[in-house]
Amino acid sequence: MLDDSLKQILRTPGLILWLTGAGVSAESGIPTFRGKEGYWQVGSRNYQPEEMATWAAFQEMPDEVWAWYLYRRGVCRGAEPNVAHRALAKAEERGGDRFLLVTQNVDGLHLRAGNTLDRTYQIHGNIDFMRCSNECLPAPVPMPQGIDVAWEKGRPVTDCELQALRCPSCGAPARPHVLWFDESYDEANFRFESAIDAAKQATLLIVVGTTGATSLPMHIGTITVQRGIPMLVVNPEPNPFSALVARTRSGAFLQGTAGQWVPQLVATLPGR
Ligand code: OAD
Repeated sequence: MLDDSLKQILRTPGLILWLTGAGVSAESGIPTFRGKEGYWQVGSRNYQPEEMATWAAFQEMPDEVWAWYLYRRGVCRGAEPNVAHRALAKAEERGGDRFLLVTQNVDGLHLRAGNTLDRTYQIHGNIDFMRCSNECLPAPVPMPQGIDVAWEKGRPVTDCELQALRCPSCGAPARPHVLWFDESYDEANFRFESAIDAAKQATLLIVVGTTGATSLPMHIGTITVQRGIPMLVVNPEPNPFSALVARTRSGAFLQGTAGQWVPQLVATLPGR
């Protein structure tokens, strides 16, 4: 049950900004980013995400990097949106332009649940899309037909598949449409400036299922704290966002899962 002070916060007029991370998809069966499933074996060596998810690795071993992403894409495609994703779709339906979602998840589950691309900033990309490695395309393109969607872990990419994973315009190798560790956020691919603007305009920030390990999400948290707006944090574990709430005493840390809290929060939000 939500107490009266929480209900009061949720009735704040203005833009409600939601920020989600891997935890919101955990109850759909997608391992969180730093879970055991994250590593990838090449020969006898285990690569960690911080090594595989890089432009440098793609330059050195594009087939291995593609195999890792195609495997992860299969996991995402095999998952279904859960109650928290569905509640967030309802929040957009009811909130209209008072709703904005910034997600670090590349699994596309928010969009599959019904959130729109207009009001969902996928700041780390979407695993179901690829783009030209020479950046010649105006926008990412969907993965080509014929690429296996149920990728077995460890299965290598064939030459035929690598041929399909090319830019449809210039023929250069295509790359997964995700932000890599040795790259920077930008507006064209990742809505960087738009996400910052949202943090400057929001009247409430609700952070769900993220460790706060990447720079833009923490920046969003810091901007809202500096502006003195309240923050609600949903997570089974304390994290840097809940520490911000504790320090500022503005908002609340709601310890628990996305599935426990998000539907309740959305049910309490006012309509447009
Ligand atoms: P992490 O794997 O770092 O963290 C997942 C968070 O979800 C943790 O804080 C968990 O406590 C929490 N969690 C687990 N189960 C949950 C549940 N059922 N409900 C709510 N929360 C739950 O994932 P992210 O924080 O999303 O970036 O990682 C952020 C970014 O780090 C990723 O997008 C990725 C990585 O670097 C890039 O690849 C650029």
